[in-house]
Amino acid sequence: MTPTAGTPARILVTGATGAVGSAVLRTLRTAGHDAYGVSRRGGEEPWQYVWRIGQEEPPAALHGPWTAVVHCAADTRWDLPAERALDANVAPLRALLARTGPATHFIQLSSSYATGLEGDVASHAPDAYRNTYEWSKAAAERLVHARRDSADIVRFPIVMGARADGRLDRYSGFFWLPAALCNGAVPALVGDEKALLDVVSTDDVAEHVARLVVGGPPQGRRLSVLGRGDRAQRVGEVFDTVREALSSWRAAHGVPPLDPLPYVTPEQWNRFYLPFAEEHLDRAQLRRITAFRAYQGYLSVTEPVEVTDQVADTAQVVHRSMTRWADTHEAAARRIPQPWRA
Ligand SMILES: NC(=O)c1ccc[n+]([C@@H]2O[C@H](COP(=O)([O-])OP(=O)(O)OC[C@H]3O[C@@H](n4cnc5c(N)ncnc54)[C@H](OP(=O)(O)O)[C@@H]3O)[C@@H](O)[C@H]2O)c1
Repeated sequence: MTPTAGTPARILVTGATGAVGSAVLRTLRTAGHDAYGVSRRGGEEPWQYVWRIGQEEPPAALHGPWTAVVHCAADTRWDLPAERALDANVAPLRALLARTGPATHFIQLSSSYATGLEGDVASHAPDAYRNTYEWSKAAAERLVHARRDSADIVRFPIVMGARADGRLDRYSGFFWLPAALCNGAVPALVGDEKALLDVVSTDDVAEHVARLVVGGPPQGRRLSVLGRGDRAQRVGEVFDTVREALSSWRAAHGVPPLDPLPYVTPEQWNRFYLPFAEEHLDRAQLRRITAFRAYQGYLSVTEPVEVTDQVADTAQVVHRSMTRWADTHEAAARRIPQPWRA
């Protein structure tokens, strides 16, 4: 269904309380669309509903038809057992596709990393991906291809806050980093400081989705890949920006700045640091180390992602997002890093 001039499009946004879905819903409503959000726990606004997709029937107010469905709901944790990742990222999609007819413009949000280690989403094998999240997002893309002749798939890398002020409605994923830097949970940065670390703002995703909605469903299945691509910042630059933003915030709040951490390669980490840690550290420290390990694969990417839609520079976005994180997590941002003790 293509929205016609003067008729607001009726749009369903899933995962509308999450980091991305909340920005998408806000942007669509600000543009004058008749947009509604759903999530497992629902939101505060009258246009937000509770619907645990895949587990129950939708509320009556959400019965179709929809001009467009923007599917943002997901579980972005990397360490879910395979079955749970499928339940979280594929089963709700299957239920949603079954409820929306072919006339609805279906927009599936995905990740730049859904292409795993082989560079596409074709493989069904878990070891073709860095983790079960990527594997389940690839399966979700394949399901959209199998069930829809026309649909949009939008991939993007790590998401930071709004371009103007760094606002994010939910801090997850990458935001382990400022917390870990402030409390000393990580003794070193495991990765290649020259590797590429692509990020986008929630605005980049939300504005792109709004353009797709206005343009109507594509002929066939269309893939957009958002990001900086070969102009992405280097890991070292992003981490310097993070530390600089946090240290400025700390200086303004009378807290000592953060020291830079040394970089170690994944190989050095796995051969020297980890065996030492496993022998000498307590269980809580080891839990942090294990969680931190999941990021190694993302901090060593040297091949740029090929983007279809290059977003504007993101250095300020990272800075503002970190400052905003500190404003909204004051106790965590004020902590003094504790040195590691064996
Ligand atoms: N964040 C990133 O860096 C990033 C990067 C690349 C791609 N993406 C993709 O962007 C999309 C949005 O991610 P996000 O970071 O915004 O996730 P998020 O902040 O974790 O939010 C997830 C949202 O999905 C909802 N949800 C999960 N399962 C649901 C279900 N079965 N039924 C209804 N609602 C459900 C959650 O509701 P409750 O809050 O009520 O639980 C929440 O609103 C995902 O497709 C993700 O793969 C994210």
